[in-house]
Amino acid sequence: MAGREGAGPGGNRHVLVVGGAGYVGSVLVRELLAKGWRVRVLDRLIYGNERSIEGLIGEAGFSFVGGDFGDAAALDRALAGGITDVALLASLVGDPISKKYPDITRRVNVTASEALFERLRASGIGRFVFTSTCSNYGRSATDDPLAEDAPLDPRSIYAETKVAFEQFLLGSLARTDFAVTVLRIATAYGISHRMRFDLTVSEFVRSLALGRKLTVYDKDTWRPYCHVKDISRAVISVLEAPRDRVAGEVFNVGDDRENFTKQMIVDLVARHIPTQVEYMSGDKDPRNYRVSFAKIRSRLGFEASRLVSGYVPELVDAVRNGLYATDGPTPSYYGNHDVQGL
Ligand SMILES: NC(=O)c1ccc[n+]([C@@H]2O[C@H](COP(=O)([O-])OP(=O)(O)OC[C@H]3O[C@@H](n4cnc5c(N)ncnc54)[C@H](O)[C@@H]3O)[C@@H](O)[C@H]2O)c1
Repeated sequence: MAGREGAGPGGNRHVLVVGGAGYVGSVLVRELLAKGWRVRVLDRLIYGNERSIEGLIGEAGFSFVGGDFGDAAALDRALAGGITDVALLASLVGDPISKKYPDITRRVNVTASEALFERLRASGIGRFVFTSTCSNYGRSATDDPLAEDAPLDPRSIYAETKVAFEQFLLGSLARTDFAVTVLRIATAYGISHRMRFDLTVSEFVRSLALGRKLTVYDKDTWRPYCHVKDISRAVISVLEAPRDRVAGEVFNVGDDRENFTKQMIVDLVARHIPTQVEYMSGDKDPRNYRVSFAKIRSRLGFEASRLVSGYVPELVDAVRNGLYATDGPTPSYYGNHDVQGL
């Protein structure tokens, strides 16, 4: 077995979650700790999102390193003391933020990510998991579900950079002895310690629960969705799977039951509250992709444990009871709008 790997779930393994204070990461690190993993987070907190992990300071098995993973000294601090596995979540995430900060996006999502990979080659780790995105499928000409070998068609700087780093990783497999796995994750939903209301389901539900009129572009475009807790389970099952089942592999992360058009999401909300929706066909977001999750189901036994239909009433209730009900523009903490310090 190459690299450092402990036996059994968690075992004596110590995972570095780069970007562990974000929307997905702050849920993932708690799930890892609950399963007995030691967890270190390296995060630059670019959205002022320190609240997402401050409650973990002092917890057994948890440590935090503040800094940029593109900074060699911060990375050395984060890797010190026997890290056995690395999950790279940190990026500029989403089409709008990548359009607003194209240079920073390329620097973080490609240049710094490649440098991280090179640094890890000398570190003795056993596993490396990269969180990519189903956005890479872009605008599919068909509504048939796309498997991992479908052509990629990135339609934003975000997706372009994710595809570029995927290709770098898959082209570098022969140069490393640790197992590399790429996860193309569906659009996330669910409550997190760092909420994002710039993601379709939560954005739609919150706006409609606040009684706002919602404008929906290209209502018939398809997209898959996955709950943050299920995304976390998928990452953990890759870390804990037998190495030969995941090494050098790409997996779509989600569930075949959870492909929806935007109209279908609105309809799910309308089961619970009155909705005011204006539909526009502006071609504002050219993405359209239905995705197949057969591979992760058959190889890793992964299925969603939560469904969008269950989340919608939970978030409606939360908003109607005053949580996330701030008036005015959504604070940066609740979405990827403005970065700090990069
Ligand atoms: N949220 C989704 O719908 C979704 C869907 C598919 C894939 N993903 C992938 O999952 C991962 C996490 O997404 P998220 O929604 O949690 O994003 P997020 O923006 O909430 O979290 C990203 C985290 O990375 C940190 N970060 C960014 N640049 C950094 C740098 N240079 N150094 C150190 N830390 C840095 C940020 O401070 C933040 O805490 C990303 O790789 C994303 O591409 C997310």
